Amino acid sequence: MTEKVLFTAKDKRGAEVVIKHSAQIAYTPAISLFMKHHAELIEKGWGLPMFLATNRSQVVYAEINGQVVGEIAFEVKDDTYIKIIQIYAGAVEPAFRGRGIYKMLHTQLEAYGKSVGCKRIRSEVHSDNKPMVETLDSLGKRITFYRIEKDL
Ligand SMILES: CC(C)(COP(=O)(O)OP(=O)(O)OC[C@H]1O[C@@H](n2cnc3c(N)ncnc32)[C@H](O)[C@@H]1OP(=O)(O)O)[C@@H](O)C(=O)NCCC(=O)NCCS
Repeated sequence: MTEKVLFTAKDKRGAEVVIKHSAQIAYTPAISLFMKHHAELIEKGWGLPMFLATNRSQVVYAEINGQVVGEIAFEVKDDTYIKIIQIYAGAVEPAFRGRGIYKMLHTQLEAYGKSVGCKRIRSEVHSDNKPMVETLDSLGKRITFYRIEKDL
């Protein structure tokens, strides 16, 4: 599966970040961070079926010195009347957080989405996940849906 370099830039600490895209997440070095992140979500009780990758799952991922430091798994979907980017899950390695890496990944994913005709980008986030809620807010994303539940 071919991986394409989408973008290269320095992060907030001056490290060179390479953002790559692959149309199939399974065969990329980003899969191990994706799996590790899922284990953390499940441990926190946030593991939702919608986060699971399918054989249509694509990925954008960030490398610093050849190491995968962040990823966003997604799918291009036809949402009834418009084409959208549906994000399944995204994570940045703890040691590399706060350096603008997720923002770079998301911005490149938006550009990729536009280039293939998508009109919207969507993700789901647990309401307790403050870092991700703040991050999505800073990216200009807005709440459009609430899930309402209580423990029994
Ligand atoms: C959420 C996460 C991906 C953010 O990655 P990151 O690379 O540290 O984020 P960035 O440095 O690009 O920050 C983007 C914006 O969000 C804000 N932000 C990031 N982390 C934050 C935090 N812990 N608290 C408050 N705001 C935060 C930043 O201030 C920044 O805004 P700015 O550009 O206006 O300064 C990272 O914390 C993570 O991997 N968390 C665990 C994975 C997870 O919970 N994923 C959600 C389930 S899918």
